[in-house]
Amino acid sequence: MRVFCAADYGRASRVAANIISAQVIMKPDCVLGLATGSTPIGTYEELVRRYEQGDLDFSKVHSINLDEYRGLSPENDQSYRYFMNTHLFDFINIDKKNTYVPDGLEPDKEKACRDYEEIIKAHGGVDLQILGLGHNGHIGFNEPGSVFEKETHCVTLAENTREANARFFKSMDEVPTEAYTMGIGSIMRARKIVVIVTGESKREIVKKAFLGPVTPEVPASILQLHSDVILVGDEPALTDFPR
Ligand code: GLP
Repeated sequence: MRVFCAADYGRASRVAANIISAQVIMKPDCVLGLATGSTPIGTYEELVRRYEQGDLDFSKVHSINLDEYRGLSPENDQSYRYFMNTHLFDFINIDKKNTYVPDGLEPDKEKACRDYEEIIKAHGGVDLQILGLGHNGHIGFNEPGSVFEKETHCVTLAENTREANARFFKSMDEVPTEAYTMGIGSIMRARKIVVIVTGESKREIVKKAFLGPVTPEVPASILQLHSDVILVGDEPALTDFPR
């Protein structure tokens, strides 16, 4: 694993954007695995800026997002489809037909998950997967548990995840209880993974995930076994890492 420690959030976002830019330049028809959450917003802003300057072309890129709340429509401003449109896709020249987010409105859980795995396989897997890190160690919505669930599946969200994400909703009652998420196996098959971690609040979980034992209790810890992971963070999140 390579670690890039930047001084602050803005610089960490630019490092992550550098890696994604290099991927898009080296392989214009690449498959990007994308994440939501507040952490990658700065990275997406930076990609938009570079696109506007004429430095990046997303016309052949395909994207596959990690997860989506079950029950939310793409128009719902808390859905991850809405997030991706309004933070990235609406501002770059990616063809929206080439962007995939699990279908939150598909009531048949098995079908939703099967269809998404098919999409990932049909695209030959993900070239570069971007990940954030939940405060309980989740990646995508793979919550702490007794097993590493491999494929796309439907999860019941942990209460602390619902509480952490409640800040985006009008009330706690509106926070969905379930989500569709790529599994650990789907994530681990990505050829390259970039994990972005910023802020003091991530310090403890980053330490557990990358310097502690590999355990399903900390889902991100499995990333220690991937052969090409880049951890991009800022000083407050990476305080415990050797320089
Ligand atoms: C959400 C998402 C994750 C994300 C995590 C961290 O629940 N499903 O993909 O990485 O939370 O979010 P943040 O970046 O806002 O801390």
